[in-house]
Amino acid sequence: MRKNIVSPSVLACDFSRLGEEAAKAEKGGAEYLHLDVMDGCFVPNISFGAGVISSIRKLSGAVFDVHLMIEKPLMYIEDFAKAGADIITFHIESSSPVDETVKKITACGCRPCLSIKPATPAQAVFPYLDRLSMVLVMTVEPGFGGQKYMENTEPKITALRREIEKRGLNVDIEVDGGINPLNAARASLAGANVFVAGSAVFKAENPGAAISEILAAAHSHPFAG
Ligand code: DX5
Ligand code: ZN
Repeated sequence: MRKNIVSPSVLACDFSRLGEEAAKAEKGGAEYLHLDVMDGCFVPNISFGAGVISSIRKLSGAVFDVHLMIEKPLMYIEDFAKAGADIITFHIESSSPVDETVKKITACGCRPCLSIKPATPAQAVFPYLDRLSMVLVMTVEPGFGGQKYMENTEPKITALRREIEKRGLNVDIEVDGGINPLNAARASLAGANVFVAGSAVFKAENPGAAISEILAAAHSHPFAG
């Protein structure tokens, strides 16, 4: 069975205490930390860049799962790799060439991940699957935390998982947007194994318990084919 992982998104944090919040998530059992980079162009919101990530890097041993919601990811891959990214996700809908960007991420020593927005079909990433470490299926329109999970993205998760299994590849499927223990079970059943959670973890009284609940939901609803 594939390993289930929770990746808390710091977008839901108090930005004046990023280091402490990241430590809280790690202590609560998070293996990944999800870092949402927004440029105000690819999405109508601006978050933070490589400088902020490199500051948190000094305080955290988590796997840095960097989600680039930016128009020209290729231009910035090196910066994010140097800042301490372990996984770099970019969008197929961005203006950077996919092949070259994947190559650049790999050459910088990071794991490449390609993301699709809700309106983009799963099949769009099929040609790149053999070069990817993970595919991120957005379960909300990217840009803001705290939105409602879109159940109609589940058939895409299943189509992707089936294609990955059919080809015998080792690719994770990450879901991002509105994830909580209830819909994590649904997404897991559909075929996802990496769960981004911003509000559900950082707005919870006990982030560690929230992480455990998401993992428990995923474990009890495995993809069955
Ligand atoms: C949305 C971001 C998400 C967001 C998730 O554009 O990519 O990672 O922070 O936050 P929640 O879990 O609150 O929807
Ligand atoms: Zn994200």
